[in-house]
Amino acid sequence: MRVYLDNAATSFPKPQCVSQAVCDFINNIGSNVGRGSYQNSYSAAQVVYETREMLSSLFNFNNPLNVVFTMNITQSINMILKGFLKKGDHVLVSSMEHNAVMRPLTSLSKQGVEFTKIPCDIYGQIDYSSIETLIKPNTKLAIISHASNVCGTMQDIERLGEIFKKHNIYFVLDSAQTAGIFDIDFNKSNLSALCFTGHKGLLGPQGIGGFIISNEFATKVSPIIEGGTGSLSESEEQPEYLPDKFESGTLCLPAIYGLNASLKYIKKESTKAIKEKELYLTKLFIEEVKNIDGIRLIGYNTTDNRAAVVSLDFLNIDNSEAAFVLDREYGIMTRVGLHCAPSAHKTLNTFPKGTVRFSFGHLNTEEEIKYTLEAINKIVKK
Ligand code: ALA
Repeated sequence: MRVYLDNAATSFPKPQCVSQAVCDFINNIGSNVGRGSYQNSYSAAQVVYETREMLSSLFNFNNPLNVVFTMNITQSINMILKGFLKKGDHVLVSSMEHNAVMRPLTSLSKQGVEFTKIPCDIYGQIDYSSIETLIKPNTKLAIISHASNVCGTMQDIERLGEIFKKHNIYFVLDSAQTAGIFDIDFNKSNLSALCFTGHKGLLGPQGIGGFIISNEFATKVSPIIEGGTGSLSESEEQPEYLPDKFESGTLCLPAIYGLNASLKYIKKESTKAIKEKELYLTKLFIEEVKNIDGIRLIGYNTTDNRAAVVSLDFLNIDNSEAAFVLDREYGIMTRVGLHCAPSAHKTLNTFPKGTVRFSFGHLNTEEEIKYTLEAINKIVKK
């Protein structure tokens, strides 16, 4: 039996329609968009636009042209942070951020950008009451991850949005672990930008991500990559309008076709049903695992306030060894270590040892969860 429990790294399997759409593009369309005056190019442009429309509507945003495609969410976050922040600016982050946020910020700090980590408790939940005490006159932006990629803990983004709006701070959301599964309302959370990746909860292929950006915030962010857009070809200046301002070079069209198909699949299945299935499986797992001797469950021990990502610390066997045995002896695929999130592990008191992470998708089954629990029980009793 092979059991894939690494959906926080990338979702698998993908719905069948995804590979069909990627193949359809490669085999039957193949053309670029905005660069050809023939039918295939127009039909590809239509699929790209339809994909923007579906993303815009998924996040309750009102303009598909403000959906910018990138390669992945790391690129999106870098484009926003490096295109906006200047020497002397101050940024708020949570102490649960991934290195996709922490590394660009650490690099920017060498150029005079300051950042402060909002403390989180041992479950990874933000200390909301501390936020206003950390805001400074030069605080320009806050970037927060919606759910932890280590332990699944989710932040209350509407509450955060209210605080940041009150202080005129741009609010950027890292939705890597939640987009496609949990409701995210761009307007209700007072977001300035929402960064997403296509290959996790959105169920598309790797190679496609993006961000949605408000008109006002977009005027404050400079493109860090410039070049051909297929538009305004008479000019050697980057277009100012969206999405062209941020989309230079050929888009990853096979991946956009795949994402187009997965978004239709999500709409048909409904995010509500996907979320309920993931949390049902998570509950089955947590309810038993929290009582196994020799296992420490990291983060919340219920399914309130969490995504389908669970971290365990094996107390009597090295975590890497446990992950190795899970794979080699039982065919169970997990991710062990620090999950590119040292700050989160420090918050959860699991640094530098790390954890074994189990992350579920809606296509996992009850049988797979029970099999995994049996395997964990056998490993700890060895
Ligand atoms: N950030 C992804 C993970 O947590 C890749 O595995």
